[in-house]
Amino acid sequence: MRILLVCLGNICRSPTAEAAIREALAEAGLEQSIEVDSAGTGTWHLGEPPDPRMAAAAAEAGLDLSGRARQVSVDDFAEFDLILVMDRSNLEDVRGLAPDMRARERVRLFRTFEDGADGDEVPDPYYGGTGGFERVVEITRRGAQGLVDWIRAGGLERAADRVG
Ligand code: 4NP
Repeated sequence: MRILLVCLGNICRSPTAEAAIREALAEAGLEQSIEVDSAGTGTWHLGEPPDPRMAAAAAEAGLDLSGRARQVSVDDFAEFDLILVMDRSNLEDVRGLAPDMRARERVRLFRTFEDGADGDEVPDPYYGGTGGFERVVEITRRGAQGLVDWIRAGGLERAADRVG
């Protein structure tokens, strides 16, 4: 099973969500059975490591960010069982790439997995202050926990079956 996280630049939110999900999977003993990766809809930062401000906020909270920015593509629909996006603009962009209706249904807002979420988007921290990056860490950790609870309840297998 493979899960892809997508934001705009692939240097702030999606690498943090990726690390938070890895952490939650490891705590649940599921790190061997599920792979996680991340990508961005935009091209500005291709090949770059995570934003230093994001990496610092994540490290402060004990999350180690990894990877280099890459752009999401139609090929990702063949590789991933679930594609989780950070905001509604990402949702529109990635659904627009989907090869068919069933693939479209595999693209979902990440925060729909968060218990008691106060919104459906992970706010873009890029042009704001330190608090925005800290908030990304908090939100992605809560979402990761909700996602792993859903996986443990068999959600991912059910979703993969439905899309064949
Ligand atoms: P991300 O944040 O989508 O969470 O990686 C951003 C990174 C870069 C830009 C915007 C958002 N940018 O405009 O370059």
